[in-house]
Amino acid sequence: MPLLGRMHILQLSLVMVVEVTILPGTPTPTTAKSLLPPQLARPGCPDHCGNLTIPYPFGIGSGCYLDYRFEITCYHNSTQQPTTRWMTSDIDITNISLYDGEVQILQFAASDCYDAHGNSTETNSPELWVPPPYTISETKNVFVEVGCDTYAFFIGYRGEEEYTTGCMSKCDNLGNAIDQRDTCSGAGCCQTKIPSGLKNRTVTLGSYTDVRDSHRCSYAFLVQEGEFNFNSTSFRELNDTTKLPAIIDWVIGNESCDIAAKNESTFACKANSYCHNRSSGGYICRCRSGYEGNPYLPDGCQGTKPEI
Ligand SMILES: *[C@@H]1O[C@H](CO)[C@@H](O)[C@H](O)[C@H]1NC(C)=O
Ligand SMILES: *[C@@H]1O[C@H](CO)[C@@H](O)[C@H](O)[C@H]1NC(C)=O
Ligand SMILES: *[C@@H]1O[C@H](CO)[C@@H](O)[C@H](O)[C@H]1NC(C)=O
Ligand SMILES: *[C@@H]1O[C@H](CO)[C@@H](O)[C@H](O)[C@H]1NC(C)=O
Ligand SMILES: *[C@@H]1O[C@H](CO)[C@@H](O)[C@H](O)[C@H]1NC(C)=O
Ligand SMILES: *[C@@H]1O[C@H](CO)[C@@H](O)[C@H](O)[C@H]1NC(C)=O
Ligand SMILES: *[C@@H]1O[C@H](CO)[C@@H](O)[C@H](O)[C@H]1NC(C)=O
Ligand SMILES: *[C@@H]1O[C@H](CO)[C@@H](O)[C@H](O)[C@H]1NC(C)=O
Ligand SMILES: *[C@@H]1O[C@H](CO)[C@@H](O)[C@H](O)[C@H]1NC(C)=O
Ligand SMILES: *[C@@H]1O[C@H](CO)[C@@H](O)[C@H](O)[C@H]1NC(C)=O
Repeated sequence: MPLLGRMHILQLSLVMVVEVTILPGTPTPTTAKSLLPPQLARPGCPDHCGNLTIPYPFGIGSGCYLDYRFEITCYHNSTQQPTTRWMTSDIDITNISLYDGEVQILQFAASDCYDAHGNSTETNSPELWVPPPYTISETKNVFVEVGCDTYAFFIGYRGEEEYTTGCMSKCDNLGNAIDQRDTCSGAGCCQTKIPSGLKNRTVTLGSYTDVRDSHRCSYAFLVQEGEFNFNSTSFRELNDTTKLPAIIDWVIGNESCDIAAKNESTFACKANSYCHNRSSGGYICRCRSGYEGNPYLPDGCQGTKPEI
């Protein structure tokens, strides 16, 4: 295995644990309907942090979120791009989608750098902890690895069985890589889909390089599909402060719609909404056609036309 003669490994751990409970939200008196823009947060709760809209079941402050896993702490409300505390870590949330049941976050890349002797000088192994009700979207993210003579792979588990996927990039020097225009296809950059249904995942980035005069850092990261374009400036632009967008899915509970709907007191889909099963288990709610607003609020979705 000469390729693996020198091997530095760093890990970006994406840990998912399967265990879900639903806590009922705090009851709030219902408010009168109006034709004002639909309310997205619980009445009396802040609906913004910076320019980020925070719709229920997410919320800031006691009584404003469905359960602790949807709690957001807002720092730096005055800056446009807020930092929030979410699931025990500080993270930049850049968008929350009710319709798709998604959160867009920014996360660091894993990186691995060498000096002229080939000694590892700097490794950065960010951890992204993704417990229920969150999962890493396998349809909207890709796994990208940038570097010369670098491999990176995922290890995940389905039950007790281990699954591995990954990719590898080769280049004699940076020149080879930058001849490629805006493609990530094996020379200096490689990209792969994420396997589905894996419950806990580890990203391993390794280098089997001999020392070369080329760029001496490699990177691996998950990124929202279409948000990273490999080109001649990619090596320069990536560093250990680079943050990349990724899409995290969320669900309510761990039961399918028909089972969850049997218990009205815990069922999250309110008036004028319908329930949508998610493949990872659990469900989300959407407003029925002709209605808008927030299907999770006590009043449910509101008609878009005035009632006669
Ligand atoms: C679903 O959540 C319930 C309540 O927390 C838990 O007891 C159950 O084990 C979960 N089921 C699965 C398949 O994870
Ligand atoms: C942030 O500031 C805006 C405007 O002052 C306010 O409407 C919003 O409720 C604030 N958000 C938080 C979380 O304090
Ligand atoms: C919020 O502001 C940041 C910084 O100005 C900007 O990059 C981002 O696109 C804005 N987000 C939204 C949802 O407007
Ligand atoms: C936020 O997400 C919504 C729904 O997916 C999308 O339409 C919108 O463009 C996103 N906004 C930003 C600033 O990314
Ligand atoms: C770096 O590599 C050189 C040459 O291989 C070796 O002599 C030296 O001990 C290494 N330094 C460290 C800090 O590992
Ligand atoms: C991932 O799952 C495997 C098999 O269930 C387990 O042995 C391992 O400890 C898990 N890793 C983490 C980080 O939870
Ligand atoms: C490379 O792509 C980045 C965005 O991914 C862009 O900002 C930059 O201008 C591009 N550089 C070249 C030389 O095309
Ligand atoms: C990282 O790259 C960004 C541009 O992408 C640059 O502004 C920043 O100074 C770089 N940081 C370091 C430590 O090199
Ligand atoms: C949700 O999934 C369950 C079980 O897989 C199925 O019986 C049910 O019809 C689905 N409901 C909806 C609304 O798709
Ligand atoms: C509905 O869920 C609540 C809270 O978990 C529980 O106390 C109640 O017994 C459930 N009702 C039914 C009919 O299962």
